[in-house]
Amino acid sequence: MKVLGVNAVFHDPAAALVVDGITVAAAEEERFSRRKHGKSPVAFSTWELPEQAMAWCLAEAGIAPAELDAVAYSYDPELAFQPNGDITAAEWEGLRTLYARRAPLFLRAALPGLDAACVRWVPHHVAHAASATFASGFDPCSVLVLDGRGERASHLAGRSTGGALEILAAQALPHSLGLVYEELTAHLGFRRSSDEYKVMAMASYEEPSFLDAFRELVRPDAAGGFTVGAIDFSAFAPALAPGAEFTPAHAALAATVQRRLEEVLLDLARWLHARTGDRDLVMAGGVALNCVANSVLWREGPFERIWVQPAAGDAGTALGAALQVAHDLGDPVAPMTTAALGRGWDDAALAARLDTAGVAFERPDDVADAVAEALADNQVVAWFQGRSEFGPRALGHRSLLADPRAAENLEKLNDIKGREQFRPVAPMVLAERAPEIFDGGPIPSPFMLFTHRVRPGWAERIPAVVHVDGTARIQTVDRRDEPLMARCLECFEARTGVPVVVNTSLNTAGRPMVDDPRDALECFGSAPVDVLAIGPYVVTRAGVAV
Ligand SMILES: [Fe+2]
Repeated sequence: MKVLGVNAVFHDPAAALVVDGITVAAAEEERFSRRKHGKSPVAFSTWELPEQAMAWCLAEAGIAPAELDAVAYSYDPELAFQPNGDITAAEWEGLRTLYARRAPLFLRAALPGLDAACVRWVPHHVAHAASATFASGFDPCSVLVLDGRGERASHLAGRSTGGALEILAAQALPHSLGLVYEELTAHLGFRRSSDEYKVMAMASYEEPSFLDAFRELVRPDAAGGFTVGAIDFSAFAPALAPGAEFTPAHAALAATVQRRLEEVLLDLARWLHARTGDRDLVMAGGVALNCVANSVLWREGPFERIWVQPAAGDAGTALGAALQVAHDLGDPVAPMTTAALGRGWDDAALAARLDTAGVAFERPDDVADAVAEALADNQVVAWFQGRSEFGPRALGHRSLLADPRAAENLEKLNDIKGREQFRPVAPMVLAERAPEIFDGGPIPSPFMLFTHRVRPGWAERIPAVVHVDGTARIQTVDRRDEPLMARCLECFEARTGVPVVVNTSLNTAGRPMVDDPRDALECFGSAPVDVLAIGPYVVTRAGVAV
């Protein structure tokens, strides 16, 4: 069966293609359109489809729209708010429902030849859940989904057995842990549904001094859900304008909301575990991108193993919806083994792009070793290899790499990326060496979805990647899965004695991650990056100047 998954309703429009139960392609629209997050998350934009991502997924597999057995749309308009004649009610929410209902016609217009009758709606949180249950390969498993909102809920707790999802709890709106975090993000002068990572980073700078108040405001209930009272963030710290400096009160507020989120997540996990007794928990939804909370769940929660969908935000619902429908149509669904599901180019195509750009380039004997040498020489390297990542994290395919031994590289990378200086950058580490250097989180951790403590003796050796609270959001690199990146780490260790490099996403300020070779050249040409390693080729500053 050929199933195209589509996320088009709230954030991060994306497409995914599942053929005979195997995920062959998945990509976010922003990587093509170069508009961060793809579109504005308002009701008006629901008609917009991830047209380029859909078209690429089909082209990648050589499938015509008419050949699709199903299109899985990650929202069910029948479950949503019904307009009842007043389209303007509840911030035009009815418009979202109407546009979602019209999705088959919009899809047919975008994909000529598509049979509009093959469109199937998958409830938003069922799609999130499927992106974790099927993709993890854990069976049976418990599943927790938490995000800003779906059709009428913000949470799902359930159990998956043999691909059948039993929903045990679902928290109805307006109560939403995701929306609390989003509101705080906006209150602190950041972009909601986008900059929640900044709040998480800021939370490390102070103690959670307002916890008593927030334990009253945000409370788990006996039914596996929770309630959220009316929160006036201004009572704790005044609203910040974008770009304004934060005060200790702002950091204390961030720390408080972060801690309360962790406490409530622990309660929800314990409630779920008490009903399922499962060993394994899988998670999705935007809240599951909170790697600090994920590690608290791993350390203190009742489950032995936790798997988080790397595209835990709404982009991942395109994949989840497709996996769910593939299962419903009778296909055995294969687990997800890599996030490298986006576009890739062969060596000849890369060389042709470099020729077109008129830049000089070399082909060293071993690009991994050449890059390790540059890193050991404290150069910053743009690393463009293989297929791009699905989800918000750079995992060694579209990465900026640097030497973790030089503390000043944190500031240097934040400058290149136009980021605030309070934000950390993360380490990549050889999987087999990770336990020596990090603890307090699961190892392996290939998708950067947990934070770890840096062990004593190592923090001073890799200062660029140690956050203010002594933690790091690691990516473990297994040579079986990522042989090129693993060799680069080995070569770097051979030179420096350190099996760790700095890894942050390859993009400049406010831009989506680099996806195609032209994006890489634009990034390299406009930012103080010393080396571009693109496939087997290396471009240096001298090459650009020639
Ligand atoms: Fe969602």
